[in-house]
Amino acid sequence: MNEKKLNFGIIGAGRIGRVHAETLAFRLPQSRIMAVTDVNREAAQSLAAHCGIPKVAASAAEILADPAIEAVLICSSTDTHADLIVAASKAGKHIFCEKPIAFSLEQIDRALAAVKTAGVQLQIGFNRRFDANFVRVRQAVASGEIGKPSLMHIVSRDPAPPPLSYIRVSGGIFMDMTIHDFDMARFLIGDEVEEIYTAAGIMVDPEIGEAGDLDTAIILMRFRNGVIGTIDNSRKAIYGYDQRVEILGSEGKIEIGNCYPNQAVVSGGKSVYKDLPLNFFMQRYTESFAAELQSFTQAVLENRQTAVTGIDGRIPVVMAMAARMSYDEHRPVRLEEVGV
Ligand SMILES: NC(=O)c1ccc[n+]([C@@H]2O[C@H](COP(=O)([O-])OP(=O)(O)OC[C@H]3O[C@@H](n4cnc5c(N)ncnc54)[C@H](O)[C@@H]3O)[C@@H](O)[C@H]2O)c1
Repeated sequence: MNEKKLNFGIIGAGRIGRVHAETLAFRLPQSRIMAVTDVNREAAQSLAAHCGIPKVAASAAEILADPAIEAVLICSSTDTHADLIVAASKAGKHIFCEKPIAFSLEQIDRALAAVKTAGVQLQIGFNRRFDANFVRVRQAVASGEIGKPSLMHIVSRDPAPPPLSYIRVSGGIFMDMTIHDFDMARFLIGDEVEEIYTAAGIMVDPEIGEAGDLDTAIILMRFRNGVIGTIDNSRKAIYGYDQRVEILGSEGKIEIGNCYPNQAVVSGGKSVYKDLPLNFFMQRYTESFAAELQSFTQAVLENRQTAVTGIDGRIPVVMAMAARMSYDEHRPVRLEEVGV
C-alpha cells in the first residue's frame, strides 16, 4: 500500500471549496491540506479553522510558490480558472479544477496547452461520474447488459434557482447547470454527441430572463453511434432535487430514480407517501465529491492519467455553446460548427 500523502493547496473557500476541503481533511488520509486562500480572507480563515488547515495564504500566487504543495484545488469562480490553471502548470503543481474550465474555447485551449507543456496532471470536477448510481448505468451500457442503447433520457432539475447575482456570472444555464448533464450524456453512452437541438424558455422567474438567461430547457442530442438522447432541465422543482436517468437498449433498459434521506413510506386513509428527495447537490452527491478527490489523489500518487481529463472538460463547454446557439437560431446545431 502506498503510504505517501499528497500535499494540497486550496484556492477558493466558497461553497464547493468547503465541500472539497472537508473531504481532504476528514475523509482522505492520503491527503494533507497545507494552505487555503480566498480573495475573501474571512472565508479562507473560517474554512481553515473548520478543517484544521495550518495556513491562510494571502493569494493564489503564494500557494503556487510554496514548494511543499504538490497539487492545487481550484474552487474559485469560473472566470479565474483558466489563468489559475496556467499559473499552476507553470509552478509544476498537479491540478484539480472545478467545472467549467472557462466560458471560451480560446481560454480553455490556452489552459490545456499549459498543462500539456508542464506535464502535470489535471482533473475536472465532473463529480457525477463517481456517483454509484451513474457508475452502475455506465457499467450496464459498457458491458452490453442492456444490449445496444438507442434512447437516453436525463432529468436534471434543481429545487430552486440560485440568486440572480450568481445567475449573472454563471455563464448561463447550459454552461452552469446542463454542463453536468452533457458530461453525463458522453460518459453514460461512451460516445460523442454530433448534433444538438434546444427548446427552452423562462417559466420559473422572469428576472432570470431579464438577466439574459433561461430557466427551463429540453435539449435533444444525436450521438455519432445513432443514440438519441434528451436532457430535461428546470431551475425549479418544488419537490426537491430531481436527478433521474433512463437508457433503453435492445436487450432491456436501466433507470435510476431519486435518492431519499430515508426509506420510510407512510400509509394513511387517503394516501401513501414518503419524504422529499435529498434537497440539493451537496446532499445528493456527497459521496461522489469524496470519490472524485480520492480518484484524483490516487492518480497523482500513482502517476496515472486522471479519470476526467482536460478534453472531458472542454467538450461539454462546446455542447453548452451549441445548445445556446440552437436556442438563439431555432435550429439543430452540429458540434463541429462550434469547435470540436
Ligand atoms: N461540481 C459541482 O457540482 C459544483 C458545484 C458548485 C460549484 N461548482 C463550481 O465551483 C466554482 C465555485 O463555485 P461556488 O459555488 O463554490 O462559488 P462561491 O461563490 O461560493 O465560491 C467561490 C469563492 O472563490 C473566491 N474567489 C474568487 N476569485 C478568487 C481568486 N482569484 N483567488 C481566490 N479566491 C477567489 C470567492 O471569494 C468565493 O469565496 C465554480 O466554477 C462553479 O461552477 C461546481
